[in-house]
Amino acid sequence: MQKRYFIHTFGCQMNEHDSARMGESLARAGWSAADVAESADLVLLNTCAIREKAEDKLYSALGRYRMVKASRGARIGVAGCVAQQEKEQLLRRAPFVDFVLGPDQIARVADLAEQGGIETGWVPSEEYVFPQADPETSRGRATAFVIAMKGCDNVCSFCVVPHTRGREVSRPYSEIVREIASLTAVGVREVTLIGQNVNSYAGGCGFAGLIRRVAAVPGVLRIRFTTSHPMDLSPELIDCFRDVPQLMPHFHLPVQHGADSVLERMRRRYTVAQYEERVARLFAASPRVALTSDVICGFPGETEEEHTQTLRLLQRIPYDNLFSFIFSERPHTAAALRLEKERSGAEHEPAWLEVPRPVATRRLDEVQKLQQARTLSRHRASVGGEVEVLVESARTSPGVPGERFGRSRENWTVHFAGVERSVVDATQHRAPPRIPRTRLSVVSA
Ligand code: SAM
Ligand code: SF4
Ligand code: F3S
Repeated sequence: MQKRYFIHTFGCQMNEHDSARMGESLARAGWSAADVAESADLVLLNTCAIREKAEDKLYSALGRYRMVKASRGARIGVAGCVAQQEKEQLLRRAPFVDFVLGPDQIARVADLAEQGGIETGWVPSEEYVFPQADPETSRGRATAFVIAMKGCDNVCSFCVVPHTRGREVSRPYSEIVREIASLTAVGVREVTLIGQNVNSYAGGCGFAGLIRRVAAVPGVLRIRFTTSHPMDLSPELIDCFRDVPQLMPHFHLPVQHGADSVLERMRRRYTVAQYEERVARLFAASPRVALTSDVICGFPGETEEEHTQTLRLLQRIPYDNLFSFIFSERPHTAAALRLEKERSGAEHEPAWLEVPRPVATRRLDEVQKLQQARTLSRHRASVGGEVEVLVESARTSPGVPGERFGRSRENWTVHFAGVERSVVDATQHRAPPRIPRTRLSVVSA
């Protein structure tokens, strides 16, 4: 009987992408996908290390999957960022794990599933080959992630990604364009170019050049990208928002903080004024762009005044939405090393004092409440208006007959009863000549 695998994916789009490629590698080696872990012969966890909570989720999931191993002898593998970070320590903490696989080694998943072991080496940048997506995985889907670059050459002092994903490597644009052509051939209409720092792309052209080349692929109706660093927001990329019709008016541009002093400790390489100046240029070129951002509360040494500067920034910039987090100390990062010195008494500087948890929680709450109110009032203004929706699924939820789900151009999720004929169902692979519009009646913050 064919052996079956189950992949549990945590974290960002990079991990979702890597899980899809690992599934394809396993399929080529004769495995088939299981619907649930309980019927699998291999349970693979693709993990995230961005915050402590993400890592905790791995260990609680491992506790559950251990039972699957006990009951049916399934093999257990750990891939992704915690695998890269912990390496053999992971086997010490969870000795029932059969193999550990770093992000550069995903092509070896089938071998490791058979042999067991630890494979977390880096492939030298010049030798790295990006796994090509099998278009069959996307048949019947309207959207797909396409990897443009991997790794991150920035050194933000809070962030573990450079340690878990290594140096930046850009994928040649010819490979990207070829992959996208193979995806549109099976019905994909929206592609999201992904990378930890995607707008620093340099795979034979700049990122703006890549967007223009992708827009020229027949069948591409929508282009998105994530995630961008403010320092790599070029005038050429801003121009694309004005004159590439397929580029969707949504931009995720994490600011992280509203005080220059904190941005400096975070090693973000820009000031608040520089960020706002770039945002102003973006809005001048494309006034309707939905801007979203990330903010960290409770970064070491954050004073009440610095926190207030974040609140003021959120009042100035018309963000469409915001992802906000409490600072989490991550291994090997510059902030963690600095905090260790502080704790050992080797150095002392008020600018690096830990923010007590209740204070950080209260500040996060203030940030979230402020942005929720602003997001809600923006979205309320759209009630009764029409938005263009690319239908991603025709799932029928209990009590909502014919409910469909899709995204607007701004990346709002839209649920609606889509029984009318004009709504194109991407799962039936009918290529829409024009994406349908639906009326907004329900708004959620
Ligand atoms: N590459 C992106 C960038 O530069 O903005 C994002 C990387 S990360 C996957 C997504 C977000 O997680 C970051 O923008 C940051 O707000 C947050 N984050 C990263 N490290 C964190 C930490 N140690 N504690 C809390 N939040 C963190
Ligand atoms: Fe992390 Fe900074 Fe790189 Fe983003 S740019 S992945 S926050 S190091
Ligand atoms: Fe998490 Fe790694 Fe992505 S740390 S956010 S899975 S790059």
